[in-house]
Amino acid sequence: MQSLSRVAHVAILACFSLMFITKGVSTLVSKNGLSNYSFPDKFMFGVATAAFQIEGAWNEDGKGESMWDTYLHKHPNFTVDHTNGDLATDSYHKYKQDIIMLQSLGVKYYRMSISWPRILPNGTDHYINKAGVRYYRKIFQELIKAKITPVVTLFHWDLPTALMDLGGWTNPKMVDYFEDYARVVFSLFGDMVKTWTTMNELHVHCYNGYDLNAFVPAMQSHGIGVYLCSHYMLLGHARAYHLYDKEFRPKQKGKIGLTLDVFYAEPKDSNNKEDVEAAERYLQMHLGLYAHPVYSKEGDYPALVRERIDNMSRTQGYPRSRLPVFTPEEVEMVRGTSDFFGINHYTTVLASASSMEPGWLVPSLDHDAGVKSEQDPKWPIPGAFWLAVYPPGLRKIVNWITNNYGTRVPIIITENGVCDSGGLNDYERVSYYNKYLYQLLLAMHEDGCRVEGYFAWTLMDDFEWSDGYTVKFGLFHVDFNHPERKRTPKLSALNYREILRTRRINFNYIKMPSYKYNNL
Ligand code: GAL
Repeated sequence: MQSLSRVAHVAILACFSLMFITKGVSTLVSKNGLSNYSFPDKFMFGVATAAFQIEGAWNEDGKGESMWDTYLHKHPNFTVDHTNGDLATDSYHKYKQDIIMLQSLGVKYYRMSISWPRILPNGTDHYINKAGVRYYRKIFQELIKAKITPVVTLFHWDLPTALMDLGGWTNPKMVDYFEDYARVVFSLFGDMVKTWTTMNELHVHCYNGYDLNAFVPAMQSHGIGVYLCSHYMLLGHARAYHLYDKEFRPKQKGKIGLTLDVFYAEPKDSNNKEDVEAAERYLQMHLGLYAHPVYSKEGDYPALVRERIDNMSRTQGYPRSRLPVFTPEEVEMVRGTSDFFGINHYTTVLASASSMEPGWLVPSLDHDAGVKSEQDPKWPIPGAFWLAVYPPGLRKIVNWITNNYGTRVPIIITENGVCDSGGLNDYERVSYYNKYLYQLLLAMHEDGCRVEGYFAWTLMDDFEWSDGYTVKFGLFHVDFNHPERKRTPKLSALNYREILRTRRINFNYIKMPSYKYNNL
């Protein structure tokens, strides 16, 4: 009886899929499972990593401490598995292997970050650590030899502890220190690096680290520090952009931009006006706050965000808005400071309006936004609780960005990927990449969005911030019990290599054990 109903179930699903194929997608996916749309030859396919998550060698060869080193040594229970980044995947010593892995995938671009305290151990440019400089120069040389273009992030969250001790990004002086650091990095590596992103994910960094205590520095300056952090990071980014533009670009002829992040937000009930407004407010508070000053024609914070935080601050009795104000000169200085729109995207939420939810603090970014976010129970969650799989979210966020900021600069997906609990047969990851990339093809070919690159997160299983080593995002498995941190390709690596080779998605390339992974 049971097996009969299973057969019936499979038959019904197959029938549905046939309907789906014959109805909407017949022109998009051929019978043999190949997407008819393809990625242009020039499309930048790559993978991304970040220094703190892979390098290890936390105190080797003159490196200074980052705030993540210091905090995790003091608070070993901060990560769920009580681990830290001391060794991570040991890429400081194994970068050559990493580059061989990149070559085996066939990627032509590698997004990586520089550890600020490995170059400037005290954060400031009065002393440069030569061994750190040698390390990155060797990586860039090897990458170039392997015909892989480095795409380099200056700041992926590992702030030198010496600067965190001064208040980190709540301190206006950080804008100068970041510009100084950027000058050192452009001078030392700009002959080899032609694509820069200044900073990674301003929202996640400021919200998790300064509003909440989810990430280091765990400041919990809710509703206040979070906006100081956002404000001075934006100014720091803009100063680094202008520095490059004026002093380095004429000779080095590279590109420089910013990487932001967002979950897409859909109204919980699309017929409910309040839910529709809540979804838009979510996107403005999480992405618009950072994107509008840089990418909009007029610059500055979005009016919706400005008014909301100003009003909240007033009714809460604050003498001035908790969201700092840009001077007219600063608005101009920040506006237009990115050669591309770098966006990291992983998941989607369902939004509804709410003035208070359990766990919200007052004031806080959540309370200011007034959006309750949930996930559809139908969306699969293969790993961390926050990462529910909803592929159309990528197409929708790319369209939202295009509708809000136009096509002056191209969009680059600087991170996208999924975590699971580990293993080499990572069907869920294969399916995730197939489906998200398929949605990206639709955004490009059906909606006319200007998308020029895509970076999978991430090359190999790594240190995932407060999740430690418990969640796995890698195309390559890393054996963290093995002293050599042995790396092995997963099925998703083979699948990604095939996508890059053919510039198409072949939904049949990896045979899925069950139908559930396959439906578009
Ligand atoms: C991003 C972050 C990465 C990585 C990824 C997966 O927010 O930039 O460093 O951790 O999430 O959780």
